[in-house]
Amino acid sequence: MQGPFIKSPVLKIVLGILSSLLAIVFILLLLFTEETRMEAQTASWAGREIENGAALYYNNCASCHGPDGRGLPGVAPALHSHYFFTERLGDVGWAGSLSDYVELTVAAGRPSKTNTQWAQMMPTWGVTYGGPLRDDQVRAVTAYVLNWEADSLTQTAEEDPWQPFRDVRKPVEQQTIGEPGEPPAEVAAPTGEPRDPEVLFTSLACIACHNLAVDQTPTNRGPVGPNFGNLNENAQTRVAGMSAEEYIHQSIVAPNAYVVEGYPSGIMPQNFDQLMSEEEINAMVTWLIEQSQQ
Ligand code: HEC
Ligand code: HEC
Repeated sequence: MQGPFIKSPVLKIVLGILSSLLAIVFILLLLFTEETRMEAQTASWAGREIENGAALYYNNCASCHGPDGRGLPGVAPALHSHYFFTERLGDVGWAGSLSDYVELTVAAGRPSKTNTQWAQMMPTWGVTYGGPLRDDQVRAVTAYVLNWEADSLTQTAEEDPWQPFRDVRKPVEQQTIGEPGEPPAEVAAPTGEPRDPEVLFTSLACIACHNLAVDQTPTNRGPVGPNFGNLNENAQTRVAGMSAEEYIHQSIVAPNAYVVEGYPSGIMPQNFDQLMSEEEINAMVTWLIEQSQQ
């Protein structure tokens, strides 16, 4: 009896070759699927990093750079901007990548400059430089900012929310993209349901210049705009014959009508009457008074 054993040497060789080939095909298949699996993994990591970055952006950056990165006039430049992605590096003479530029600016902040066009300095964020964010958080918020590239590149000159920079070698007159000081599109038109004053206080960047929790005193003044801890009290006496409500209303719609002593005029944006409906302005006045009575 031969049993199940194969006797023919030729058949043995053929079968040997076949099984080796099968093994090779199998290994190649494994390698291939592993690669796509890893690609999918990397993509989901990148996705998650951008998501983390979005939350970090909303909590730390939106008050100055605007809720959608389109900048706020006089407060901070637009990052969700065609100019930012195409010309900014050339204008500041940065030879590295945009990613390094953003990461380093976020990590280290920008030292105060004389004659700056912005109300406040860009703060230091990276823990390496004494800021509150870990390195991976700085990278995540950088990834989120860079994620605006595709959309920014579709902006026309009129849509670009960019404001001319005073810190570049090109004189302001030769900076031709966009119009200075355009409000971010989402907050520009007060339409539909009136928005909550507390939300507007952040999205219109009042919060970047006014501190609700601290009293304004001669020895403790808000650095950019007056503190609002005791606004109700101050507002009653600023202008003879004006109630607190009337004064605060006027301060919002016509900031230059009365300029608080010790502050330059023109720092507070002049277009809030276009960014809020009358109803929203009145609700803001009431809310500010309530806040400062607590
Ligand atoms: C207190 C307001 C403020 C906050 C909060 C803030 N920034 Fe800024 N940021 C600025 C100002 C002002 C500048 C412009 C500084 C300058 O050029 O002198 C700036 C500049 C930048 C720039 C460089 C822009 C350019 O074109 O050169 C980047 C990038 C940036 N900020 C990202 C961020 C990110 C990300 C966050 C949140 C982690 C953040 N900023 C939070 C005020 C702020
Ligand atoms: C870029 C900085 C900046 C932003 C943003 C800003 N303000 Fe002001 N605000 C100022 C400055 C500076 C003054 C003081 C000079 C003046 O009276 O115009 C001021 C004054 C005021 C006053 C009068 C305060 C007092 O003690 O008499 C009120 C009220 C006020 N702002 C409300 C607001 C509200 C509400 C917002 C948001 C919708 C806002 N501001 C946004 C800078 C700012």
